[in-house]
Amino acid sequence: MQSQNNIYDTSFVQNLFDEMAGTYGITNLISSFGFARRWRRQCVEQIDFHKSCAVVDLMSGMGELCPNISSRIDSDSHIIALDISPVMCKAARRYEKGKLRCPLRVIQANALCSNLAADSCDVVVSAFGLKTFSDIQLKQLASEVLRILKPGGKFSFVEISVPQSPWLRAPFMFYLKTLIPLIGWLLKGNPDNYRLLGVYTEAFGNCETALSSFQCAGLEAEIRSYFFGCATGLVGQKPNL
Ligand SMILES: C[S@@+](CC[C@H](N)C(=O)[O-])C[C@H]1O[C@@H](n2cnc3c(N)ncnc32)[C@H](O)[C@@H]1O
Repeated sequence: MQSQNNIYDTSFVQNLFDEMAGTYGITNLISSFGFARRWRRQCVEQIDFHKSCAVVDLMSGMGELCPNISSRIDSDSHIIALDISPVMCKAARRYEKGKLRCPLRVIQANALCSNLAADSCDVVVSAFGLKTFSDIQLKQLASEVLRILKPGGKFSFVEISVPQSPWLRAPFMFYLKTLIPLIGWLLKGNPDNYRLLGVYTEAFGNCETALSSFQCAGLEAEIRSYFFGCATGLVGQKPNL
């Protein structure tokens, strides 16, 4: 088992998802009982997309959020999907071939220091990519979101979270620490990797720390709670000065 600090090293996280890419999609779908899909949809529904929108999907994985985004934007808009894992990016490129109603570009890059131009995005969205960031990295992410959004640009993040209710928390932690690794193993993944996702989620807790990082960076942000806090979200905008 890695020490708590090492698990936030960018290269460690990249390797983790490179290794998990083969089983992530199916394990995520089955182990979340379909909730992952619902939370992605709810994450995107927080945004009122206008015409000709430049949308960035951060920590985009295999492009799971792209169909949701595409269903809500026009053909003059475009999506940039950005992820650090080359294996996840390779899988996301299946959507580049005209499967969406607007163009998609997949970029392999670190979301904490990407080459995306300042003030270039109308919308930033992201599903399940916050938990693998330490508190310091969440501050870097907030600065980066502030940098790349146009003034008035909107964002919506969602992440699996530890529910506040003790009634829900106990079964949720059992599910996180025992059931997900078991399902990952049954689907031929490495159970240690899936166990680690539980470690990240427990340390992450919910979007409260990310909320204060985003607000300190100068973004207007508020929390969303999905299904009794089993997922939380961060929704807001860059002030239109
Ligand atoms: C749990 S997956 C989520 C994938 C997808 N968004 C979804 O809805 O299922 C987290 C993703 O974040 C990516 N990631 C983690 N740290 C990153 C970073 N610093 N920059 C870019 N991507 C990162 C990982 O490679 C992984 O694909």
